[in-house]
Amino acid sequence: MGNLYTIAHARALDRDDSLARFREEFMIKDPSLIYLDGNSLGRLPLRTAEHMEHAIRKQWGEDLIRSWNEGWYEQSARLGMKIAQLIGAHPDEVIISDSTSVNLYKLAYGALKAREGRTEIISDDMNFPSDLYIMQGLIKQLGGLHTLRLVNSPDGISSDISELGRMLNRNTALITLSHVAYKSSYLYDMEHITELAHQHDVLVLWDLSHSVGAVPVNLNRDKVDLAVGCTYKYLNGGPGSPAFLFVRRELQEQLENPIQGWFGEQNQFDFHLNYRESEGIRKFLAGTPPVISLSGLEPALDMILEAGMEAIRQKSVAQSDYLLSLVRQCLSGMGVRIGSPEIAEKRGSHISIKHTEAYRICSALADPGVGDGVVIPDFREPDNIRLGITPLYTSYEDIFRAMMQMKEIIAGELYGNYSQTRDQVT
Ligand SMILES: Cc1ncc(COP(=O)(O)O)c(C=O)c1O
Repeated sequence: MGNLYTIAHARALDRDDSLARFREEFMIKDPSLIYLDGNSLGRLPLRTAEHMEHAIRKQWGEDLIRSWNEGWYEQSARLGMKIAQLIGAHPDEVIISDSTSVNLYKLAYGALKAREGRTEIISDDMNFPSDLYIMQGLIKQLGGLHTLRLVNSPDGISSDISELGRMLNRNTALITLSHVAYKSSYLYDMEHITELAHQHDVLVLWDLSHSVGAVPVNLNRDKVDLAVGCTYKYLNGGPGSPAFLFVRRELQEQLENPIQGWFGEQNQFDFHLNYRESEGIRKFLAGTPPVISLSGLEPALDMILEAGMEAIRQKSVAQSDYLLSLVRQCLSGMGVRIGSPEIAEKRGSHISIKHTEAYRICSALADPGVGDGVVIPDFREPDNIRLGITPLYTSYEDIFRAMMQMKEIIAGELYGNYSQTRDQVT
């Protein structure tokens, strides 16, 4: 067993890895830098840099406004179709638009209007705060008639489905949850929750930000109503790349978009003075899309489609199990706790490691003067070191070296040299 915890073993696992070739598709200038934060901002695919250069120099620089008719106008729907393939949706059910927060607002508004008379929204206390802020704001704007009820996680790691089941009643309008919890990585059983909700005629809105591109998702099979998600994490779309939204076909006509912008209009270049909504998924658009940013997404999506979600998930599970075995073997008795579900089927593609000195451990990991080089995880309050596994470019050697560096930092209390003052972005 001993030789399982060596760099030689990690390298052997890399040699056997069928997805290993994709690592070369990313810009990796410093091979000694270990990047375990693809769950916040994915790495830059080399194809993207070329593609964006084309969008900037040729499409914008030379073709100018004509580029709108040469593909820019259709880009939001065309890339939506590629995302649809990743999340088990029909091509006309997904479109790229705005940010995740704004899309969540639009779809939650539509859902609450579609369930007028019902006044409860259910979410959980592990949800991403922006999702809860959006619901709180929406409640204010709708006259304060609704209440947001949160399922309390018993341990901060997993959800209590039976509590969720007990909360559901004839007054529930909407359940909105992150498919994978941003801190603990807990993965909801989408099919089960959706079915529970539908038994009460409740709509469900899933936030796929931490699952799209990391975990196989099948919205149509699971009869999902609504979903949103971002593209800058596992989809490698780049900083601030636009988000997507999904609305089940049968709901598209019924649901209202609260932001009636010209991109959602039937024929925006009629410049009609009164809004006439588009048919289908386009009605959920609002204003002009960030074209350059959007163009960077396409090659990144193509790469994921090429690799295949099943292979990506298989490697993600193998790598996160490997990471957990290193934590158990090498970091035990050092004040470290595992802050993620230990069963692979119940987690996404990141692992949270808890330690009272988590923030300063992250600072020490990122210091080039410590150990063999820089390790970049991220920190989530109050005590989580979040380690993102992105199978397209994370190697087993990365994981092994990161864990050895963490061991050295904790055992030698090297974190004592760093400040507790948080950076603006953690
Ligand atoms: C689960 C989840 N939802 C929503 C957001 C917010 O996304 P945006 O900034 O695109 O609105 C994030 C951002 O990290 C997230 O992790």
